[in-house]
Amino acid sequence: MKIIMLGAPGAGKGTQAKKIAAKYGIPHISTGDIFRANIKNGTELGKKAKTYMDQGLLVPDELVVDLVVDRVNQDDCKNGYVLDGFPRTIPQAEALTEALEKMGQKVDFAIDVNVPDENIVKRMGGRRACVTCGATYHMVYAPTKKEGICDTCGGELILRDDDKPETVQKRLNVYHDQTQPLIDYYTSQGILRTVDGTVDIDDVFRAITEFLGA
Ligand code: AP5
Repeated sequence: MKIIMLGAPGAGKGTQAKKIAAKYGIPHISTGDIFRANIKNGTELGKKAKTYMDQGLLVPDELVVDLVVDRVNQDDCKNGYVLDGFPRTIPQAEALTEALEKMGQKVDFAIDVNVPDENIVKRMGGRRACVTCGATYHMVYAPTKKEGICDTCGGELILRDDDKPETVQKRLNVYHDQTQPLIDYYTSQGILRTVDGTVDIDDVFRAITEFLGA
């Protein structure tokens, strides 16, 4: 089961991708998480990615494509995976299609989590991420048991640098310009389902599992 998550920044791709990964026993591959781990570890890739991410821009395709193609070739991806945040441009989607074709594979499902821009701006201000393990919460919709402390590892929770309102607006513009065309790309392959991302987290997940057929 090879699944792609599409949707605006903050639409809930990561939240749903984690639930899908747990239910179907497949890896959750988030390019945003990979970049944030590289930034935390001070790698060359992290340094390069940070300059784009802090401005709300996409990291150039050439820094992303090989990284993802290598990752989906690893052993734990044999039974599938859920890609969260990749592809994000038509060239990335084409590179993925081509790489999978070479392995005799294809994407099975593309899920578009649809949330209007005005909801996104409000939602992002309440998101909190753990500095230690990267787990994500929401102050209202997905709160931790203890305020400011990660339920998973006890780490400190922060507002991501790119979740500040001015950067969120830029990320939304980039999404409409460069990522939204992927909805037509996967619709034309007959594998896309749009789900309403404005409803409760569990209801979004129900709509997704109905589509995935299990
Ligand atoms: P990335 O980390 O992928 O950010 P994003 O796509 O902007 O998505 P987010 O992680 O912000 O949101 P999400 O949709 O996962 O929502 P979440 O589940 O957290 O990428 C960051 C940056 O890295 C990019 O801007 C770019 O620079 C770079 N990058 C990454 N991949 C790249 C690529 N392929 N090419 C080039 N550059 C790349 O939910 C958001 C909040 O809402 C949470 O607080 C959550 O608890 C809450 N929530 C979730 N669902 C609901 C619901 N149904 N109701 C109420 N609240 C909800």
